[in-house]
Amino acid sequence: MRASAVAQPNIALIKYWGKQEVAGNVPAVGSLSITLDSLQTRMTVEFDDGIDADSLLLNREPAERMLPRVSQSLDNLLGSNRSPALIESSCNFPIAAGLASSASSFAALVVAASRAAGLQTDTLSLARAAGQASGSAARSLYGGFVELQLIEDKQAPDIAVASILEAGEWPMQVIVAITAKGEKPISSGDAMNLSSKTSPFYASWLEHQGHDLVVARSAVADRNFSALAAISEHNCLKMHSVMWASRPPVVYWNKATLACMETVRKLQADGVPVFFTIDAGPQVKAVCLPKSAERVSKAMQETDGVIDTMESSLGGGARLLNNP
Ligand code: DP6
Repeated sequence: MRASAVAQPNIALIKYWGKQEVAGNVPAVGSLSITLDSLQTRMTVEFDDGIDADSLLLNREPAERMLPRVSQSLDNLLGSNRSPALIESSCNFPIAAGLASSASSFAALVVAASRAAGLQTDTLSLARAAGQASGSAARSLYGGFVELQLIEDKQAPDIAVASILEAGEWPMQVIVAITAKGEKPISSGDAMNLSSKTSPFYASWLEHQGHDLVVARSAVADRNFSALAAISEHNCLKMHSVMWASRPPVVYWNKATLACMETVRKLQADGVPVFFTIDAGPQVKAVCLPKSAERVSKAMQETDGVIDTMESSLGGGARLLNNP
């Protein structure tokens, strides 16, 4: 009745922004991401009929605010008449700061909970369960370069997720520049709902996502770094344009976010294979080929306003741990 799993965040290169108006948190667009390696969330789930209700410890502290979403995710996976659970989570990077901690958390949660409940659930079903809790979490079930596709069906739209290239098949290094700590002003889920209702650019965002996915997919298949860099930066800036034009506007960036983008631009001008991407937070992720990681990391660290950097190669999908 007890199991542990570990999962890493993923960074979307072609972003998920917007939900379909159906139950089950189904994204309005497909997306393509890379799964990281050294930033990790570990989850232990123990079902216990001897306790009254679920409890959640996050880095050894009670996490009441996050508990309802976690309990709901367990209900979706196992049914609401399941046993109450003790859930312990530990995370080695800042939470809720645009680093997809919810992605690694829910990916690890469904893997651990399914095993703790004695089930042998296949990876795609676990990805769908994780995606119900947080759309981007579906991608952290898989490693390397991952694509989430929509299965169009008016009554019951669904997702399919798969790794399109394993981590070792095209090594990349990701340098995350932390430009602010603390929680973001509005959650990505609330912000994307606001965008879908108020941003005049939202319809155009939906319309062009298929094209961006085709370009990114073929850049990955061809290991074409400059093509992947161009489409990733374009898709990122387009998503932020949709956010900025929402009412009220959703602006996650700060001065250092812009300074980091400038640093990446300068490196590119010097011929360094690197590009940036930014999610629902002020941190900047610089993605580069491993040979340039040292130079990129140093340049990001020296950028005005950068508090800290973290570095990761690409890694595998969520998995069980042997010693729960
Ligand atoms: C900007 O997966 O956090 O990181 O489904 O509401 O939990 P919910 O949203 P979430 O959104 C992620 C948005 C993003 C882009 C991405 O990861 O694709």
